[in-house]
Amino acid sequence: MTDTSDAELIEAGRKIFAGDWQFIWASPSIETLPPMKGVEVAFAGRSNVGKSSLINALTGRSTLARTSHTPGRTQELIFFEGPEKAGFRLVDMPGYGYASAPKTKVASWTALIHKFLQGRATLARVYVLIDGRHGIKDVDQDVLKTLDKSAVSYQVVLTKADQVKAGELAARMDETRAALAKHPAAYPEIVVTSSEKGEGIETLRALIATME
Ligand code: GTP
Ligand code: MG
Repeated sequence: MTDTSDAELIEAGRKIFAGDWQFIWASPSIETLPPMKGVEVAFAGRSNVGKSSLINALTGRSTLARTSHTPGRTQELIFFEGPEKAGFRLVDMPGYGYASAPKTKVASWTALIHKFLQGRATLARVYVLIDGRHGIKDVDQDVLKTLDKSAVSYQVVLTKADQVKAGELAARMDETRAALAKHPAAYPEIVVTSSEKGEGIETLRALIATME
């Protein structure tokens, strides 16, 4: 990619997210999803990894998606729609791997996540969020395996970069790259973000703009 096209993509990304983003739909099950429309980009990841916070950072709306420091905040598939012309939707997903939630709830969220990731024609990209402090866990591998079987392109985002020392972050990136080498369907590049400090947000907006 040339510098010019990079700058153009960053500008395109900025424009998409500078527009008005709104909540449009919440679905507790696969049977109650909104009609398919536009280009959907979903955010998956372990509970508390920062999915909802990342959506807020992207849209510049600190209270659009509900966040919480206790895990298990997002319990449905939550759809947000951007400016009409761009036709983008963001999907905030429930977290997986939440050990202290009731088993039946965890099972139903996990089933919902895997079903959605496998069968949604309008789903163009999935960002799998991995906590920059902890790296990829077995529950993440299960989701990567589901994505390998689906037709959707996916990319890993390391979150909470502001909480990790530079050396540790570099090690986490190396480990993550090594893990991704076993998933040829994944983008090999990792995006490093901090919703708190804004790191990586412009890049992620530009990456989403490439799907226009
Ligand atoms: P569930 O909906 O429960 O699955 O969680 P989630 O993945 O949506 O996480 P959420 O965005 O609610 O964030 C969880 C906690 O992490 C909150 O206390 C956030 O403030 C915090 N957090 C999220 N992103 C960042 C970040 O980039 N840096 C720091 N320091 N904290 C963050
Ligand atoms: Mg959430």
